[in-house]
Amino acid sequence: MTKPVMFEFFSGSGRMADAFSKIGFETFTVDNAYRPEVVNSHFSLDVLKISKKEILLITNNRAPSVMWFGTPCTGFSVASLGTHWGGGFRAYVPITETALLGISLAKKCLEIISWFPGCVWGIENPRGVLRKMPFMPNHFLQTVTFCSYEDKRMKPTDVWTNSLWVGRLKCKNNNVLCSHERAPRGSKTGTQGLKGSYDRAVYPLSFCKEFASCYSFINKEEGVKQ
Ligand SMILES: C[S@@+](CC[C@H](N)C(=O)[O-])C[C@H]1O[C@@H](n2cnc3c(N)ncnc32)[C@H](O)[C@@H]1O
Repeated sequence: MTKPVMFEFFSGSGRMADAFSKIGFETFTVDNAYRPEVVNSHFSLDVLKISKKEILLITNNRAPSVMWFGTPCTGFSVASLGTHWGGGFRAYVPITETALLGISLAKKCLEIISWFPGCVWGIENPRGVLRKMPFMPNHFLQTVTFCSYEDKRMKPTDVWTNSLWVGRLKCKNNNVLCSHERAPRGSKTGTQGLKGSYDRAVYPLSFCKEFASCYSFINKEEGVKQ
């Protein structure tokens, strides 16, 4: 029996793919960095250069049922807004190579999505400048905070998705009802306190499990039907 196919692009730790693998998908991860700890079928490729033909070669001609994109946030983060974006109040004109690269990567996600109509997809990026880009389909946008997923970080994160998933209620700064780490700007706690960009970007396990669980009921032979 062939399994439905799931891709995680910009996969880092590959946690989203792992969650889909556990519910019966055949998963593939794509990242330009090689990570030996990623157990799924991993491809060290530049997403910017990937073609539809290449994807179908990887899957033996099966269209992906689910695609997840953990798009790099380097050009879009609020902390470096003044460095990468100009043009005045709310103009969001890219003024650095990093900002331009961020735009190209985000547009590439949308291009890949357009190759596979009917595929369930999700694009994730920490809440920042990406949501201000006119080409982003914001009618698909939800925002979650990682502390709502048993993480110590109150990290607001945007997810554009056509899936059935509905994210948990957002938390906010100084919410006394939540046990997230207090992390005023410049402090060594919360997301800022995590060592490298790898640690800062890793998803909480329950976030991945929850997103994948929307598809655990699928007919494994027919693939995902929206
Ligand atoms: C924000 S991290 C994703 C982290 C992931 N969501 C996790 O839970 O570990 C972005 C990833 O994109 C990768 N990356 C950046 N530019 C890329 C490119 N052009 N092609 C493929 N991967 C790229 C980086 O190596 C990094 O692992």
